[in-house]
Amino acid sequence: MKIAIASDHGGFEYKEQLIPFLLGLGYEVTDMGCYSSDSIDYSDYAFPLAQAVAEGKVEKGIVICGTGIGVSICANKVKGVRCALCTDPLMAKLTREHNDSNVLALGGRIIGIELAKEIASVWLSTPFSNDARHIRRIDKISEYEK
Ligand code: RB5
Repeated sequence: MKIAIASDHGGFEYKEQLIPFLLGLGYEVTDMGCYSSDSIDYSDYAFPLAQAVAEGKVEKGIVICGTGIGVSICANKVKGVRCALCTDPLMAKLTREHNDSNVLALGGRIIGIELAKEIASVWLSTPFSNDARHIRRIDKISEYEK
């Protein structure tokens, strides 16, 4: 599976550690920045990643900032993106099953790196349930976006 990952400076160290971890799990990972811990604006990295997902250039994306909130707000502005900010593996599992989320947001200053790896692993490997009630709810989001 092709995925992309992006962060601001608050998520930079986690991005750097998640990339080899995800490569080790067999994912093809595109690093969309940032490329140092110098202070930058999360919007400059979250929007391009979300657009790459919306355009189908990658199947899924992971965005990381200090809290995960700024990047998730940006990603959810992009039509077709359903970004889920997760702080535990159950949220990661349920958002895939219920929301078919296509972008995962993580807070590099909120959770530990091992938990972040577990959340990313669960989120990437959990399929959408395809239950009619969840499809109906997602369709209503898509309708609203039009
Ligand atoms: C950067 O200091 C911080 O505001 C950012 O990483 C993020 O937490 C914003 O939501």
